[in-house]
Amino acid sequence: MFQINDNYQKLPGSYLFSTIAKKVAAFTEANPDKRIIRLGIGDVTQPLAPAIIEAMHKAVDEMGDAATFHGYAPDLGYDFLRKAIVENDYKARGCEIEADEIFVSDGAKSDSANIQEIFAVNNRIAVCDPVYPVYVDSNVMAGRTGTYDSETEKWSDVIYMPCTAENHFVPEFPKETPDLIYLCLPNNPTGTTLTKSQLQEWVDYANKVGAVILYDGAYEAYISEKDVAHSIYECSGAQTCAIELKSFSKNAGFTGVRLGYTVVPKALKCNGVSLRDMWARRHGTKFNGAPYIVQRAGEAVYSAEGKAQLKDQVAYYMKNASVIKEGLKDAGYTVFGGVNAPYIWLKTPDQMTSWDFFDYLLEKANVVGTPGSGFGPSGEGYFRLTAFGTYENTEAAVKRIQAL
Ligand code: MLT
Repeated sequence: MFQINDNYQKLPGSYLFSTIAKKVAAFTEANPDKRIIRLGIGDVTQPLAPAIIEAMHKAVDEMGDAATFHGYAPDLGYDFLRKAIVENDYKARGCEIEADEIFVSDGAKSDSANIQEIFAVNNRIAVCDPVYPVYVDSNVMAGRTGTYDSETEKWSDVIYMPCTAENHFVPEFPKETPDLIYLCLPNNPTGTTLTKSQLQEWVDYANKVGAVILYDGAYEAYISEKDVAHSIYECSGAQTCAIELKSFSKNAGFTGVRLGYTVVPKALKCNGVSLRDMWARRHGTKFNGAPYIVQRAGEAVYSAEGKAQLKDQVAYYMKNASVIKEGLKDAGYTVFGGVNAPYIWLKTPDQMTSWDFFDYLLEKANVVGTPGSGFGPSGEGYFRLTAFGTYENTEAAVKRIQAL
């Protein structure tokens, strides 16, 4: 008789954004006349930039001609894209990353869920609390997290690093020594970030204790402050302790197109074994390459026109962030984030729980957000709003919240 992977049975509830989608669907069915504004999941609303559309059209035409048709993509990514990434995301910032350390993928969600596969099951993970749920859930599935305590909402073998208003959302070095440290900066969900010198301390710590930092830089394009690193490789010593995960979803609106990449430096080794080679082996075996059309679209992100158009798109969303932040402050809310990230993290009013506030906002203002407790126990009493809506909807949502 076959047996299942029992670890899946340990997962409490469904994936956070699936739970929210179900709740919103039930509310919509019961209230068909209400116009709901969705500021929950961080999904973009602006169309792809013209330079990207043009590159995709051209690539589609190439696919229709035998002379320029492309079948399977190289499993680690086309050279044209890996070179553009190296030049623009690394060399331009003084980071020594080479094309053969870049692994093109279908997005950072899958990479951040899959990367744990190349580490031993008994490795201890450390996560910020609150945290993007994929990091913990993927480790639960792999059997790395121990048992779940529904009282504390914590896993016995996970090291939690609380990030709250009290410590300015800056994680502190944990008492127990982790093997793998997940850092998402600028942070999802709190919308806050670390300075480059604070990040350097984490790199030094990881090198000292022999840990690997799994660095999710999906929101890097939203950094506006000068003393914030755009890549962990701006910190010295990061090549021997950090893997960087990047996405095209938030900087270029590819949530529905799917493209990302992971950097595994050649200098990152465990007892002489190259993690870069392990990830190459894993990628080659389990992934057949992102589509040619999509990789050409990714290349256009780095063209002069693409860069200019996407700068405007990021500015559009950051204007929304400021509308939310200022509007909620005026209404008496305590708000964080929204300066280097497209997320606003707010304290729920009147000691409401995160889920009570979710229901309250949905019912009274018909606005959907994300309950902070869905990201971990230290998120209780907080709530996340995304700046990825349209400007009109964002403004309307803020007015509705102000009127409560
Ligand atoms: C979020 O809302 O946290 C993100 O959109 C989820 C994701 O990027 O997968």
